[in-house]
Amino acid sequence: MRIVNVPLVARSYDIHIGTGVLEQLAAQCAAFNLARKCAVISDRNVARRYGRKCLNILKAGGFDPVLVSVPAGEPAKSLKVVQYCYDRLAEQRLERKSFVIALGGGVVGDLAGFVAATYLRGLPFIQVPTTLLAHVDSSVGGKVGVNLKAGKNLVGAFFQPRVVLCDLDTLRTLPPREFRAGLAEVIKYGIIYDARLFQELEREMDRILAKDPGVLEAVIARCCEIKAKVVSQDEMETGLRAILNFGHTIGHAIEAIYGYRKYLHGEAIAIGQVAAARLSAIHSGLAKSDVERITVLLKRAGLPTAIKLSRQQIGKLHKAMLLDKKVMSGEVRFVLAERIGKVQWGQSVSSESVDQVLAGLRSHAV
Ligand SMILES: NC(=O)c1ccc[n+]([C@@H]2O[C@H](COP(=O)([O-])OP(=O)(O)OC[C@H]3O[C@@H](n4cnc5c(N)ncnc54)[C@H](O)[C@@H]3O)[C@@H](O)[C@H]2O)c1
Ligand SMILES: [Zn+2]
Repeated sequence: MRIVNVPLVARSYDIHIGTGVLEQLAAQCAAFNLARKCAVISDRNVARRYGRKCLNILKAGGFDPVLVSVPAGEPAKSLKVVQYCYDRLAEQRLERKSFVIALGGGVVGDLAGFVAATYLRGLPFIQVPTTLLAHVDSSVGGKVGVNLKAGKNLVGAFFQPRVVLCDLDTLRTLPPREFRAGLAEVIKYGIIYDARLFQELEREMDRILAKDPGVLEAVIARCCEIKAKVVSQDEMETGLRAILNFGHTIGHAIEAIYGYRKYLHGEAIAIGQVAAARLSAIHSGLAKSDVERITVLLKRAGLPTAIKLSRQQIGKLHKAMLLDKKVMSGEVRFVLAERIGKVQWGQSVSSESVDQVLAGLRSHAV
């Protein structure tokens, strides 16, 4: 088991990573001097597999948990489902010292975190992420929120959990496609911050895909360390935190133009990262051989690296990029790599270069 600390002065917390850490849930909660009453918010897929276990561990530790189960999938990140959760919490008479546990992937983490941040002006919050994406990304850093019709994550807060428990055993039941999607974020950490991690991923990809616990624990812990470092230097996203968006400008736009149906987030940002790497070769001196290494590693992780877009879709993609929250004074900004392990944020890129890169991705499409 490894522990990674997220150093945020008064709001510092630990991330526990390992097999069986879920067993520690009650003991961890007991350390925070909380009330007995708590709500475990989960989605139906996860609740079916881990809900009972989680409640039993909490009960055995002297807590009085209630399970709040929501539908699985992105549509659950809505104000309607937030309202549903508020009603369950009110019904169960949760109080200020009661607490909320998010048991699930990024959807549940963002939703439950938003409920915790706002119910009674904030209840203590604990994350038990169950997807690879949630282990390395969404459960770390304190961004919580829901979607509006107008766009994703438009309503939310910065609200840090008290502790994060990443139990590697939960990844065993994760559908392979979801696991691979999480690997896109893992590879991203290598590109933006850590050339050695990138090399380790090149060396160990087969063992990662086989979910070897030793390798997974080390890799997830390194990703959490990187996210913790970045977030602790820029909690409210005024600068450095933007590097976490490598591959996301085009990736988000790809998700959007397909109505969030065709590609999982990780799949879209895999293509987005190939596009960002190619833009980096044009604008920030990334070596062609590094573009190749990035593409090959994403492919080995079973992720898409090419896309066939019609002219009309490319037009839509430009429009979608302009709607991105990270646009500054009407100009789309990119995170570009100088080399693997080192990126620059806030880079402006001509729309001609974007077109050129997208056209290049098309010819590689399978
Ligand atoms: N807050 C942040 O900083 C941040 C960062 C990145 C992504 N996100 C958000 O995360 C969300 C995506 O999260 P996700 O990829 O984890 O998707 P998800 O939460 O929808 O989970 C994916 C699917 O896997 C199922 N599942 C989860 N854990 C399982 C397990 N252990 N076994 C079997 N099935 C399991 C879920 O029911 C769901 O169907 C998006 O809404 C995104 O905006 C947030
Ligand atoms: Zn992402």
